[in-house]
Amino acid sequence: MKPSDWHDLERAARRAANEAHAPYSAFRVGAAVRTRDGRIFTGANIENASYGLTVCAERVAIWKAVSEGARGFAALAVAAGRKAPVTPCGACLQVLAEFCPPDLPVHCVALPATSKTVKEFVLASLLPHAFTLSGASRKR
Ligand code: THU
Repeated sequence: MKPSDWHDLERAARRAANEAHAPYSAFRVGAAVRTRDGRIFTGANIENASYGLTVCAERVAIWKAVSEGARGFAALAVAAGRKAPVTPCGACLQVLAEFCPPDLPVHCVALPATSKTVKEFVLASLLPHAFTLSGASRKR
């Protein structure tokens, strides 16, 4: 990914946060995932009065992409926080591990476009031992 591609992806994540439905936490999160062929899918966190039904921005972005047939993810940007960025929660990491390679680059940025802090990771550093069924013995 070129620096300008990262800039576009981070901007898409920041924009997506504007669509968050977060009346309970007032914490807006945006996510943008890019496919290898350059398509971008975005998501925002969507909360519910029954709190546990809340879905994070990262999962919304992945659900949107996968449900439109996209595969082969190349990069993820997450935007949240007024000052310091946040990293994806454990549930989202497990969902990302289902669809993304362990070396998926992840950029976490704060919401203000003026913020220069970018926390850079690869997926496997955030979730080093993702659960998979590939090594498990399953009853047929
Ligand atoms: N949230 C996300 O959207 N992504 C994360 O990685 C962590 C948390 C949302 C869920 C909830 O709407 C709000 O942030 C506060 O937890």
